[in-house]
Amino acid sequence: MKNNLLFDSLKTIAHKRKSIRHFKTEKIPREDVEKIMEIAKTSPYAGGRKDWEIILVDDLNTINILKDIIKKKIELVYTGAKNEFRQMLDDYAKYFYSFETAPLLMIPVYKPRGGLVHAFESDPYGAIKLDEEGIIKSIACVAMMTILAAESLGYNTCFVHGACIASDEIVSHLNIKKNKKIGAIIPVGYAQEAL
Ligand SMILES: Cc1cc2nc3c(=O)[nH]c(=O)nc-3n(C[C@H](O)[C@H](O)[C@H](O)COP(=O)(O)O)c2cc1C
Repeated sequence: MKNNLLFDSLKTIAHKRKSIRHFKTEKIPREDVEKIMEIAKTSPYAGGRKDWEIILVDDLNTINILKDIIKKKIELVYTGAKNEFRQMLDDYAKYFYSFETAPLLMIPVYKPRGGLVHAFESDPYGAIKLDEEGIIKSIACVAMMTILAAESLGYNTCFVHGACIASDEIVSHLNIKKNKKIGAIIPVGYAQEAL
């Protein structure tokens, strides 16, 4: 049934949201984290699978380590870049750890391989690829639900996908199962600058 009240609430959240990359140190109460997780759990997911989770990081030391892990990986990856692109890439790379001042990181973690990988010897028609693309889009849905939930509570956020450049290293540092990947890093907090 048509409900303008719901639409107006969503509209307010949608227009208020913008990517924030510098945060105040103020901590996020646990009850708000639980509320955000409750909404994230309602996210659609390809194949009805729910084999994902959100890892929480609110320890400043760990947040710094994650930043360093990403910076190190960027250096390694960019050694292969052409000289004339180096400055442009370096300028862009700071967006890969634009969560560094946040009091809380919410990290959607997923299993990148779907069940179809067992059904075929090879993938000439792209069935496995389609399955895996569905999983990537699904974890992006989880990230977006997380963002909208946090924004609805008055927090600011950003969808930091660049951090995935060091997905394996981050998974290893956080002691997450090796067959998992991070879908994004979502910093949650209050914007440093008045918006
Ligand atoms: C899939 C995806 C990946 C993104 N990756 C990053 C990122 O790595 N770092 C970052 O600072 N912002 C990232 N963003 C945020 C975009 O830069 C931002 O949404 C865009 O500039 C529009 O600005 P707005 O979010 O304020 O409307 C990402 C957004 C999306 C949807």
